[in-house]
Amino acid sequence: MKAPLLDLEPIHSPIRDELRQAVLKVLDSNQYIGGPELENFEREISSYCGVNYSVGVSSGTDALLISLMALNIAPNDEVIVPSYTFFSTAGSVARLGAKPVFCDIDPTTFNIDLVKASKLISPNTKAIIPVHLFGQTVAMREISRIADDNGLYVIEDAAQAVGAQYTNRMAGSMGTFGCLSFFPSKNLGGIGDGGLVMTNDGELYELLLSLRQHGATERYYHNRIGGNFRMDAIQAAALRIKLRHLDEWTKTRRTNAAYYLDGLKDLEAQGYIQLPVEVPGNFHVYNQFVIRAANRDALQRYIGERGVGTAIYYPLPLHLQECFKSLGLKRGDLPESEKAAEETLALPIFPGLTNEQMSLVVEIVRQFYASV
Ligand SMILES: Cc1ncc(COP(=O)(O)O)c(C=O)c1O
Repeated sequence: MKAPLLDLEPIHSPIRDELRQAVLKVLDSNQYIGGPELENFEREISSYCGVNYSVGVSSGTDALLISLMALNIAPNDEVIVPSYTFFSTAGSVARLGAKPVFCDIDPTTFNIDLVKASKLISPNTKAIIPVHLFGQTVAMREISRIADDNGLYVIEDAAQAVGAQYTNRMAGSMGTFGCLSFFPSKNLGGIGDGGLVMTNDGELYELLLSLRQHGATERYYHNRIGGNFRMDAIQAAALRIKLRHLDEWTKTRRTNAAYYLDGLKDLEAQGYIQLPVEVPGNFHVYNQFVIRAANRDALQRYIGERGVGTAIYYPLPLHLQECFKSLGLKRGDLPESEKAAEETLALPIFPGLTNEQMSLVVEIVRQFYASV
């Protein structure tokens, strides 16, 4: 028996017929860009997340990029981002010629450290991007306070956190913009690339619509420069089907997390590992179940050889990436991000994982620490 990090088969097989029908309907409609599937999806996800408007786009990366474009982020502007996140959180800032200002993380949640973030604000700071990493929200009340006190925009990177909650408010619904990714491994994954920007502001919504379509307000009349950031109708159709199952998958992810939390708690008590912590008031959706582990690389090798799939999110924090060298940060500057990169390991958590597979994971992790 094996326990892969992710297997979409058990997730898709119960809904395969529904998915096929939805995709074939789009094929037969001959309308592949925009249209009713996209409009319905945007309405349905707005209602799910409790926001006024949603704009489906080509990827989570483009959701971040178009949000920054809508705020006119430009050279000389600074945007505060965590260093320990997926590349595009910072890449999208740099693509506009602006400066990503890397912030360290909280060692327990792996989310941006808000005390350190406040100290990075300068007269050039325009925005902050809190990333709800692994499926748990950043403390948005504090983010809003920092943003209000300093006149900053907030772009929530909720790529890994659709359905997560902060004091009963949905991830992505609390900032100026909220960005989702529908990369297939996400909790709401498409059958290809896709993303979405949410907002409660009607004017910003209109601006996003125009930026998604090369900055046009009317076909072939361009008030500004945008891009082709459109979502395909086929993605929207598949996502509409999958959205109906999201809550049940989230529930399973949480049940799976509870299984590991129980099965591995004594290893934590013995100091071998650190388990994920759900902050009171948060509703964690466990896009990833990430532990901090002593001898991480040896553990990964040992359990991998015995059939357990894992991944390291992320092996090199962004402030140490070659492409950001010119920003002048060096090893030692953001110690918690660097430590996380050396110690974290994601275990299989996807819905569809069987109890036998989870039992295998627990058993083999325990075996490893019994042998060291
Ligand atoms: C935190 C975070 N931000 C942004 C993205 C970018 O999303 P996409 O892969 O859809 O471009 C991802 C997904 O990989 C992510 O995990």
